[in-house]
Amino acid sequence: MAFTQRHLLGLEGVPADEITAILDTAASFKEISERDIKKVPTLRGKTVINLFYEVSTRTRTSFEIAAKRLSADTINISASASSTCKGETLADTARNLEAMRPDAIVVRHPSSGACHLLARHLSCPILNAGDGCHEHPTQALLDLLTIRGHLGRIAGLTVAIVGDILHSRVARSNLHALRTLGATVRLVGPPTLVPPELRALGAELHTRLDEGVRDADVIMMLRIQRERQGANFFPTLDEYAQYFCLTEEAVRLAKPQVIILHPGPLNRGLEIASAVADGPYSVIMDQVTNGVAVRMALLYLLIARSKAEDALEPEALAEPSRRRTGGRG
Ligand code: NCD
Repeated sequence: MAFTQRHLLGLEGVPADEITAILDTAASFKEISERDIKKVPTLRGKTVINLFYEVSTRTRTSFEIAAKRLSADTINISASASSTCKGETLADTARNLEAMRPDAIVVRHPSSGACHLLARHLSCPILNAGDGCHEHPTQALLDLLTIRGHLGRIAGLTVAIVGDILHSRVARSNLHALRTLGATVRLVGPPTLVPPELRALGAELHTRLDEGVRDADVIMMLRIQRERQGANFFPTLDEYAQYFCLTEEAVRLAKPQVIILHPGPLNRGLEIASAVADGPYSVIMDQVTNGVAVRMALLYLLIARSKAEDALEPEALAEPSRRRTGGRG
C-alpha cells in the first residue's frame, strides 16, 4: 500500500495511489464504528491535539471520536481559550505544544497556509482540518469515500460542485482529488463566486444551475460562506436561492441514480431545499459517518504506520486479538 505523506496539508499534488490507499484504509476502519465496543488499541499511548482557531462542530467532534476509537488521548484547544488571546503567534503556540510531545496536531485556522507554516516549524504530523479558503482535505476524502461507496468508482463520473466556490476550501480539495482520480468536475455558481482561474486546474465552469447539474452522477452543494464574504457577491439571499437553491425539480435533470452531498452546516432553503436534503438521493448523513473512518485512517497512517514497531496491517485492526507477531521491518 502506497502512503508516504508526513503531513496531510492538502490534496493538491497527492498522487492517485496515495489517495486510494487512504480510502482503502478508511473503508477497512468503518466496521469498528459498528461494533458494540467501538475501540481498538492501535494508537494507545499516543496523544493527538486538536487546535481549532475557527468554530467547528462536525470536524472537531469527528477527529476527536476518530482518535478515541483508536485509543489515543485527545486534547482540544480552541482559540478563544488559548494564549493567542495574549498575543502569542501561531508558530510559538505550536512549538510549545510540540514540546509536550504530541504524536499529531490537527489544525483548523482562518488563514490559508497556516498548516503549511506549522509543518515547516514542527516535526510531528500536521493534519489540516480546514485552512481559510484554501483546503479541507479530510472533508474531500470523506466525500470521495461516500461517492465510491455508493457508486463504486470515481473515475469517469461527472461531479457538479455548486455554490460559493470562491470561498470554499471543500471545493478546492475536492477538485484536486476528483481530477487526480479521473472524474469530470463542474463548478457551478454565479460568476462572482466561480473563479475563472480554476479552469486551469481542469474544472468546467457553469453559471446556470440547470446546465451544471444536467446528467451529473454526483451533486455536491456548498454553504454560502457569509462569514468570509467581505463584499456583495450577489444582490440578496432570496435572489441567490431563486437561481441556485437545489430543488427537487433541479435534481430531476441529473442522472436517475444521482447522489447529493453537502459538507454541512446546511442553510436549508438557501442552497438546498429541505425536501432534497432529507430526500432519497441525499447521502449527507453517510458523509458524516464516513468522516470518522477517514480521520481514523489518517491518524493511523500518519502516526502508527510510520513507526515500524507499531505497524499492523489494517485487516488485523478489524480483530485486535489477531496482532501480528513479526515486525513489518
Ligand atoms: C466546511 C468547512 O468548515 O469548511 N464544513 C465542514 O467542515 N463540515 C464547510 C462549511 O463551513 O461550509
